[in-house]
Amino acid sequence: MTPDLMDAGAERVARHLHPENPLHTESGGRAAGFGRHVEQGEVDVTHGRILYLEDVSVSFDGFKAINKLSLDIAPGELRCIIGPNGAGKTTMMDIITGKTRPDEGTVFFGSTIDLLRHKEADIAQLGIGRKFQKPTVFEHLTVFENLELALKTNKGVKASMMFRLDSAQSDRLAEVLETIHLAASVSRMAGNLSHGQKQWLEIGMLLMQDPKLLLLDEPVAGMTDEETARTAELFLTLKGQHSLMVVEHDMSFIKTISDIVTVLCDGSVLAQGTLDEVQADERVIEVYLGR
Ligand SMILES: Nc1ncnc2c1ncn2[C@@H]1O[C@H](COP(=O)(O)OP(=O)(O)O)[C@@H](O)[C@H]1O
Ligand SMILES: [Mg+2]
Repeated sequence: MTPDLMDAGAERVARHLHPENPLHTESGGRAAGFGRHVEQGEVDVTHGRILYLEDVSVSFDGFKAINKLSLDIAPGELRCIIGPNGAGKTTMMDIITGKTRPDEGTVFFGSTIDLLRHKEADIAQLGIGRKFQKPTVFEHLTVFENLELALKTNKGVKASMMFRLDSAQSDRLAEVLETIHLAASVSRMAGNLSHGQKQWLEIGMLLMQDPKLLLLDEPVAGMTDEETARTAELFLTLKGQHSLMVVEHDMSFIKTISDIVTVLCDGSVLAQGTLDEVQADERVIEVYLGR
């Protein structure tokens, strides 16, 4: 989730729960905007797309990081994105989430929501959740408190303090705990979790907000083989209920989870197809796989 979106109310709640250490995260306190209540409308997917990019370009100091990029994702799809370092994968996610504005092109969420007309915070509320590579959980809160915090509204400090989970939210929290394999760790401090567990917790925090589209940037980097296998299981569970865009370099992980793989290179789509298809593509072998 976007570190810039940290909500003051959530921060105060965290400080209240653990006054000795207000808001320590691995990212040095630039933690995520989990305090934001998501009020989503319906996303119109009657045209068969949850996300649609057409001819998107962005330059940084004259360098075209994204170059006429066109791509679309179906509702419930789990799309894998691969490509060499510097291909523009993270920049593409920055554009979808409103962190970076493209110089030109079209970016739609469903067929009616023009994402280029929305700010980063609005896009999160519309139902696009983002997971950065580094885990950004609240280290001095428990697993439960982290998930609870993800539901809190930004209605102000007092409302946040008075916040109590209703039964539907409690059920959801229990369900998410099972999904992310942390039910047995509900009372543990997030700071004491393994790297993989922190990653799952952050995914759980996103799930508490029931995003329609989840963007995950290198989610298994640094995980053990067992954690990677469990993450693959988790993503397969999420597929169908959410649409997912997953950037990864781990080919065995991609093999386990992928249907369609998109290969990005030099800011645009180089190839797309099943993993077997793109792995057999000479151009892909040359720029990426053959290194
Ligand atoms: N804010 C920025 N300012 C300048 N250059 C950037 C910025 N963001 C990304 N880039 C450049 O754009 C290219 C694509 O980067 P990135 O999207 O991070 O690639 P990937 O995630 O595929 O490795 C890289 O050459 C990177 O240096
Ligand atoms: Mg990247």
